[in-house]
Amino acid sequence: MSPQKMEIFKSLESWAEQNMLMHLKPVEKCWQPSDFLPETESEEFHEQVKELRESCKELPDEYFVVLAGDMITEEALPTYQSVMNSLDGVRDETGASLSPWAVWIRAWTAEENRHGDLLNKYLYLSGRVDMKQIEKTIQYLIGSGMDPKFENNPYNGFIYTSFQERATFISHGNTAKLAKDHGDVKLAQICGTIAADEKRHEIAYTKVVEKLFETDPEETILALAGMMKKKLKIPSHLMYDGQDDNLFKHYYAAVQRLGVYTVKDYAGILEFLVGRWNVEKLESGLSGEGRRAQDFVCGLPLRIRKLEEKSMERTKKHGCITSTVPFSWIFGGGGILRDANGYFKGAFTSHYGIGSNNRVELKALFDGIRLCKRLSYSSVIIESDSKIVVDWFRVGKCTLWYLWDFWDECIQEMQGMNVQIVHQYREGNQAADFLAKLGERGSNVIYEEFHELPRLLQGIVRIDRSGLLAIRH
Ligand SMILES: [Fe+2]
Ligand SMILES: [Fe+2]
Repeated sequence: MSPQKMEIFKSLESWAEQNMLMHLKPVEKCWQPSDFLPETESEEFHEQVKELRESCKELPDEYFVVLAGDMITEEALPTYQSVMNSLDGVRDETGASLSPWAVWIRAWTAEENRHGDLLNKYLYLSGRVDMKQIEKTIQYLIGSGMDPKFENNPYNGFIYTSFQERATFISHGNTAKLAKDHGDVKLAQICGTIAADEKRHEIAYTKVVEKLFETDPEETILALAGMMKKKLKIPSHLMYDGQDDNLFKHYYAAVQRLGVYTVKDYAGILEFLVGRWNVEKLESGLSGEGRRAQDFVCGLPLRIRKLEEKSMERTKKHGCITSTVPFSWIFGGGGILRDANGYFKGAFTSHYGIGSNNRVELKALFDGIRLCKRLSYSSVIIESDSKIVVDWFRVGKCTLWYLWDFWDECIQEMQGMNVQIVHQYREGNQAADFLAKLGERGSNVIYEEFHELPRLLQGIVRIDRSGLLAIRH
């Protein structure tokens, strides 16, 4: 950025001090994640976790996909702080600079940090998602960063953040509403509280851009038009979980299907900001290029809406394909039953929306036992890839209190059968692994005939004959 433009941000420091920092909340007045979560120090902790799990059970898996994606986006906060600190004129020069721009960046980050923290802990306790996969996705995402195309220009930065804070205000507000509709008042409160923070941040950032329009209308309108031409990207657009190369696309499709954040919202935000900044009424201080940029921006919301309507019409005309997209964040399981000679006798895939790792292991085992019973096999060796579950059976005791009811059910189901359970590494049985992946993708099938199996699996079964019932999650 040119020295003259740098000078503008220097001259706005006292303005920022008085008009921007007032939108931060003192730490002592802020909510903290623990205000909304079961109290670990309480005698009732276990009861509270049970309640939390009970109240989210009506929410569909797809909702949890969206909530997990939102949490992952919030958790990539180190990236957003780095990006803010890439901006000329406002960056934190020392790490503890006292310039109001730097004070804002640090305190904003500190406030935002509670969002990912709260959603992360909530999702962990809900047992509805595969935390390890989600944690991997966060690590990948922070490692990948983001490319918002700011070109070190703070005009671009403040326009983007105005837009983005409003977008998160809308999307967290919508996840709150959906939670309420499905009877989870507590989760609705969590998402609503985060949305309120986003609103406060939106007010601060839009104020900065308003001031920039007043101080330097030409540069600001060019920046706004430039950013809109590049199409604003969601901060987590580089999301990856180690498995799905189109993870962001799939996540974003789920977000749109649930109506949490849509193209209409995108157009709505732009319309709102154009009004908020009085863009249509800008007159003085604009060159020819500035005026063209102004026309472009003012006409854009309508153009986006028209394009959206056309695409909706096309979908109506040609039908819409809804697919169950595989998400590694949601649990699944599967297993295969073979006789002593390794010949196929049966298989299953199960999609488990609910479950901690161990619960899913146990559930897959339960489904395997049921399959044996259904096919009248009373003497079986079960291979499981969970060392913990195998150990429970070895000592005849489950060590996790919240699985005790289910553990009893499993033992009941095994009455009258001769079952031996052994540990096998996940990689050790490709067929069971394949079936578990189908389960993760939403499949719930029992196969009794070899020819019903997917082609690829038939090949794996032919090669991999170990003569055991193998269970995977
Ligand atoms: Fe946030
Ligand atoms: Fe935010």
